[in-house]
Amino acid sequence: MITGSQNTDYARGLEGVVAAETRIGFVDGINGRLVYRGYNIEELAESSTFEEVSYLLLYGKLPTKSEFTNFTSKLNADNQINDQLFKILQECTKSSHPMSALRTAVSYLGAMDKNSNKFDLAAQEAMGLKLMGKFPSIVAAINRAQQGKPIIRSTEPNYTARFLEESFGKKPTEFETKVFRTALILHADHGMNASTFASMVTISTLSDMYSAVTSAIASLKGPLHGGANEQALDMLERIGTPKNADKVIAEMLEKKEKIMGFGHRVYKVYDPRAKILKGYAKKLAEDKGHTELFETAEEVEKVMINKLGTKGIFPNVDFYSGIVYKSLGFDPTLFTPIFALSRISGWFARSFEYLHDNRLFRPRSMYKGEVGPLKYIPIADRR
Ligand code: CMC
Repeated sequence: MITGSQNTDYARGLEGVVAAETRIGFVDGINGRLVYRGYNIEELAESSTFEEVSYLLLYGKLPTKSEFTNFTSKLNADNQINDQLFKILQECTKSSHPMSALRTAVSYLGAMDKNSNKFDLAAQEAMGLKLMGKFPSIVAAINRAQQGKPIIRSTEPNYTARFLEESFGKKPTEFETKVFRTALILHADHGMNASTFASMVTISTLSDMYSAVTSAIASLKGPLHGGANEQALDMLERIGTPKNADKVIAEMLEKKEKIMGFGHRVYKVYDPRAKILKGYAKKLAEDKGHTELFETAEEVEKVMINKLGTKGIFPNVDFYSGIVYKSLGFDPTLFTPIFALSRISGWFARSFEYLHDNRLFRPRSMYKGEVGPLKYIPIADRR
């Protein structure tokens, strides 16, 4: 076999390749810091709101009071889904994973928006705001449809509280709102991860914001990215009790299985988001009586750090988020749509930023095949 490519610069999975400039967020994988526009994630998680963080990511500064009011009124101007889309979601959730329903919902909304064939910056911004404003209702409706329950339409203007209210049909407690809001802030943006990259690749063709978000959802679905928290919880439930952790993890590693919720392409230390979620997972587990689940997770963490900490493998954001969402009452299949409910702000901000100095993404692959030229043989003569 002859190798045809002359290109010797090759980074498998684009690892370490810098393909864009950004002012939005910085993942410091060596020191375990996550920064949004200069603010440490811990600072924002403690003091801010999801809407404010979304504004920060999108426009580069924390909003004034009037900027905030203007922003949230745009998000809430048309924040509900129609009956037709709810029917589609009911059909989708009968046969497929909620992430497929979410992907379909965003694609449907794009198809129904007559402005989605306008590609100037103002139109892209308007599409992003409209879509983001509808996201709590879309994900809550998927939750309702999956459980065979009717849709709930709340007039609550707050992104977090509206989502919880439309999911469960009752007002969340202050603590539940705080925990969920923190989880949304922690997941809002994270460098050029696979789904963000997917959204940027799509927008770089001068496609529309709905298409960019549809691409992002498609790539968030996989277990190596957004799907990991669902699988991490499943693994913890299978392990069942702290005393089984060592044996089960050893067996999985022996079979070369990846332990979901551990390891990261950028962080080689403890993921700062996981540290914050761990605290909430513990408190919620105690409140809701899941202490054995939390203790099992802590034991798995201990075993993993013992075995693989020297390789830079530590819990990532997905390890404790499953316990948090389960304690709040969500089915595990909703965990990744909840990730999207937050990450839409990063997809939107990064795609919008990229459009200001757009260049089509077009990497190359190293051709390892036959370069020929081979002679064509008619099908009748082929053996
Ligand atoms: N369990 C066991 N071994 C692991 C794990 C893990 N979770 N992660 C990495 N390793 C090992 C891997 O087997 C390899 O070992 P060796 O050098 O002996 O072959 C080494 O560490 C490097 O692994 P890699 O897969 O080449 O590293 P990567 O940079 O591609 O990994 C990752 C990143 C997230 C894909 C990987 O750590 C993984 O599959 N983790 C489990 C899935 C998961 O939790 N995903 C959520 C990521 S965080 C959410 C987000 O920000 O998207």
